Amino acid sequence: MVDVTTSLTFSDTVSGKAEGDVLVVTLNNPPVNAASAELRQGLWRALDHARSDNAVSAVVITGAGKSFVAGADIKEFGKPQVDPTLPAVVEKIEASEKPVIAAINGVALGGGCEIALAAHARIAHSKAKLGFPEVKLGIVPGAGGTQRLPRLVGCLEAVEMIGTGKPVNAEKAFGIGLIGAIAKGDLLSDALALAQSLKGKPVLRTSERIAPRSDQATVQNTIAKITLKAKGQMAPGEAMRLAASASTLSFTQGLSDERETFLRLRDSDQAKALRHVFFAERDAAKVDGLEHVEPLPLNKIGVCGLGLMGAGIATALLSAGYELIGYERDEPAAEAGKARILDILGKNLKSGRIDQADFERQAANLATTAKLRELAPCDLVIEAVFDDMTIKTELFQKLDLVIRSDAILATNTSYLDPDALAAETAHPERVIGLHFFSPANIMRLVEVVRCAQATPQAVATGFALAKKLGKLPIVTGVCEGFIGNSIFSAYRREAEFLLEDGALPQEIDAAMEDYGMAMGPFAVFDLAGLEIAWARRKREAPTRDPEARYVDIADRLCEAGRLGQKSGRGWYSYEAGKRTVDSAVTEMIAQSRAAKGITPRAIASEEIVKRLIGAMADEGKTLLDKAIAARASDIDLVMINGYGFPAYRGGPMFAASR
Ligand code: CAA
Repeated sequence: MVDVTTSLTFSDTVSGKAEGDVLVVTLNNPPVNAASAELRQGLWRALDHARSDNAVSAVVITGAGKSFVAGADIKEFGKPQVDPTLPAVVEKIEASEKPVIAAINGVALGGGCEIALAAHARIAHSKAKLGFPEVKLGIVPGAGGTQRLPRLVGCLEAVEMIGTGKPVNAEKAFGIGLIGAIAKGDLLSDALALAQSLKGKPVLRTSERIAPRSDQATVQNTIAKITLKAKGQMAPGEAMRLAASASTLSFTQGLSDERETFLRLRDSDQAKALRHVFFAERDAAKVDGLEHVEPLPLNKIGVCGLGLMGAGIATALLSAGYELIGYERDEPAAEAGKARILDILGKNLKSGRIDQADFERQAANLATTAKLRELAPCDLVIEAVFDDMTIKTELFQKLDLVIRSDAILATNTSYLDPDALAAETAHPERVIGLHFFSPANIMRLVEVVRCAQATPQAVATGFALAKKLGKLPIVTGVCEGFIGNSIFSAYRREAEFLLEDGALPQEIDAAMEDYGMAMGPFAVFDLAGLEIAWARRKREAPTRDPEARYVDIADRLCEAGRLGQKSGRGWYSYEAGKRTVDSAVTEMIAQSRAAKGITPRAIASEEIVKRLIGAMADEGKTLLDKAIAARASDIDLVMINGYGFPAYRGGPMFAASR
């Protein structure tokens, strides 16, 4: 027997403790137990120790803190490999003659899941999550995961997990055979009991199993669906091909195919871009001046204006557990707003996003009113009324009198000046912008606008709220359109220059869609409607620099009643909702060019892409110079999460820098 008090140190991040004849190996590499070189070395030594010490009959591997292992250390990517590699560690675990049990205390992602799969038995805490998020980093699992997972759960489940990168919870993991048990009591005690039951028996190696049968047609269907959604990305297709091959290839063949694919993708541009996005998201959470600021606690939140945007914001707030008071200008509008919100909640229930209990709790937290004074108990109020300065100013002045002096007032304006709005209130220090994107209950981006007079606490509160809603908050300074719409305006301007120079809307859209944008610019203009930009151009006309290049084709379209999809015609015509090239538009473009004496030239798609990305990046540079955006990567995140820029290109700033 090993001395029960023995404590062993295998590295700074890996320790061991003898619990009777079971060696408990604890991985402790804060904050998330990434499988760094140090951790791999420690684990390697722990396994050597277990093999050579006759007093050890079994090994339990577990993690300290909230993670089991959150995967390979992403910071090591792109650097020379340090031994032992993760595949070597994983093989060593599986090769052990003494049973190794993974006691999965929290997230087991990527390399963490690989370690768990290589163990001879898996038991998890009920809150644990397991998954292979590699495709989100542009790679495939690289330590046998694509071959071991299908051998445990079948090709269908494996293809789905590895192809989408979505983790599964402990219940699902148990249901599909990924883990053998969910701890009923204390995880470690249950894992030790499991170790006792396995010791002395031959170990069951995952790589030696035969994958449970999956219906091949269903597997191929699933692959086709995920491939379609992952348009343009290399990793999901490759990952699913590897997982599906487990039903036909030997483990060794599959493993060598996986290794070759992993190494090829790891050095790809897509993987580099997605790694940039990963770290960009972590950086965006670090906001200058807010490091030590405590956000205000929020319970009750008001939303003024329950149209499409307001109802979406309200639903997001209810989903996050807040009590909500929705305000509209009169009772019928308030009732209609309530119905709109309940309709979204009902759809969430129907699609399985929430269950009946969630639905009832969220509906019970919803109140609507046409009396502004009923917003008095709110800790924060978001206005999402029509984007008109007079309407918003009047509302803010009234709200300023109604709500507590320490409550926050947030405007959801897209283009108006929130500083001017704040100046109309008695407490400008509590006014911020929270710019949601439609549909606000779905879209991840929220621009948190740091108004000139806002206190750091007001900004921190808006930021924390967006995080609590599961969104990605990006802090922006004040300028017309903030970060996102400023860049989008530059994109629009350049797209119109291209049009005048010789490219047609469908050519520009095709180039950008091939590049990976969810939709080309002209299709987006049609979807959003052309009238708002038209109104702005008319407003700006008197002060426009007569020397500056101005493309008037969009004006001609609007004058002809072509206001976008809503009116059935815009840059395209829409027959039965289908985008169709319209010769009338081609003719209008030709006339406009002729009127300016421009001889159109053929423009290759590479030039289209280069000019449009360049225009976005130039505008981004201006925003950085003016300190509207704190870092280039924030701009990338805004465009990826709010404007359909492909994450696997890293965002316009990243793309332009390359
Ligand atoms: N490597 C290095 N650092 C990591 C990391 C990783 N795998 N995962 C998270 N971190 C860091 C973050 O950068 C952040 O650092 P800072 O505080 O310095 O900014 C810190 O850990 C906390 O991260 P989060 O803010 O994301 O914390 P969270 O609690 O919200 O989420 C998490 C925790 C669920 C583990 C989340 O961080 C996550 O999903 N991480 C990515 C996991 C992943 O993709 N793993 C697969 C790696 S690829 C692989 O494993 C392939 C292979 O085998 C070779």
